[in-house]
Amino acid sequence: MNTKAIIGLNPELPYAVEEAINRLRINVSFLGSDIRKIMVISSEPNEGKSFIAMNLWKQMASAGEKAILVDADMRKSVMAETYQISREDGKELWGLSHYLSDNKKLEDCILTTDLACGDLLPNTNNIVNPSMLLESNRFSELLDKLAEDYRYVFLDVPPLGLVSDAERIGNICDGAILTVRAGVTPKGIIRSSIAQLERAGCPLLGIVLNRAGAGNGKYYGKYYGKYYGSEYYGK
Ligand SMILES: Nc1ncnc2c1ncn2[C@@H]1O[C@H](COP(=O)(O)OP(=O)(O)OP(=O)(O)O)[C@@H](O)[C@H]1O
Ligand SMILES: [Mg+2]
Repeated sequence: MNTKAIIGLNPELPYAVEEAINRLRINVSFLGSDIRKIMVISSEPNEGKSFIAMNLWKQMASAGEKAILVDADMRKSVMAETYQISREDGKELWGLSHYLSDNKKLEDCILTTDLACGDLLPNTNNIVNPSMLLESNRFSELLDKLAEDYRYVFLDVPPLGLVSDAERIGNICDGAILTVRAGVTPKGIIRSSIAQLERAGCPLLGIVLNRAGAGNGKYYGKYYGKYYGSEYYGK
C-alpha cells in the first residue's frame, strides 16, 4: 500500500495560467496512446520545468487520467521542499534515489495524493553524480513499469545544458516537452537543445513558451503562462 502525501503548499494559479496549462494538457492528450513517458526539459536552469511538470501532472490527474510525477532531478530536487510534501504516516520521506540506490521498495517511495488519479515519486536525497543510477537497468525498468501502471509518467529533470542526465533520461522516454522562457532563452541555445534531444533519440513533442509577459518577474502577479497551440503538438 502506498502512503498518502500531505501537500502543505498548493498554490492556486491565476485563471490565465490555469487555462494555458489546460491547453497544454489537451495537446498532450492528443499525442496518442504510445506517448506515456514524457520528460519536461529546458536548455538552461530556471526556465520553469518543475512548475510546468507539476501543474501538467495536476491537471492531467484532475481530468481523470492516471498520472505520476517523478522528480528525476536528483542533483537539485525541489519538489518536496517547494510544495512542503510529507508523509501522512509521519515517516521519513523516501523517493527516487532511495529506490534506485538503496533497493527500497517502490510502494514505500510512491505517494498517493488527494487526487484519485495523481501519484508522486519525489526525490529527497540529492546526490552529486546520479549518472550511474540513471544508466542502470533499474531506472529504465522503473519507467517501463510506471508506464504500465499509469497513463502518463511525467519526469522533472535537470536542464540539458549542464549535465548529461536529461539526455540519458530522454533516451528512454517517449518524448520531451521543451520549456523556454519567453524573451529570455536565446534562439541558438534552443536550437542546440533540439539537436541534443535528436541525438539522444528523444522526440520533441512540443515547446512551452513559459512566463510570457511576466514583466518584473513577480510570481503569479498577472499573466505568466502562454503556450504554443496544437500545431506544435501531435507530430
Ligand atoms: N509560468 C509561471 N508562472 C509563475 N511562476 C513561475 C512560472 N514558471 C516558473 N515559475 C517560477 O519560477 C521559478 C523557477 O521555476 P522552476 O523551478 O519551475 O524552474 P526549473 O526550470 O525547474 O529550474 P531548475 O533548472 O533550477 O530545475 C520557480 O519559483 C517557479 O515557481
Ligand atoms: Mg526544476
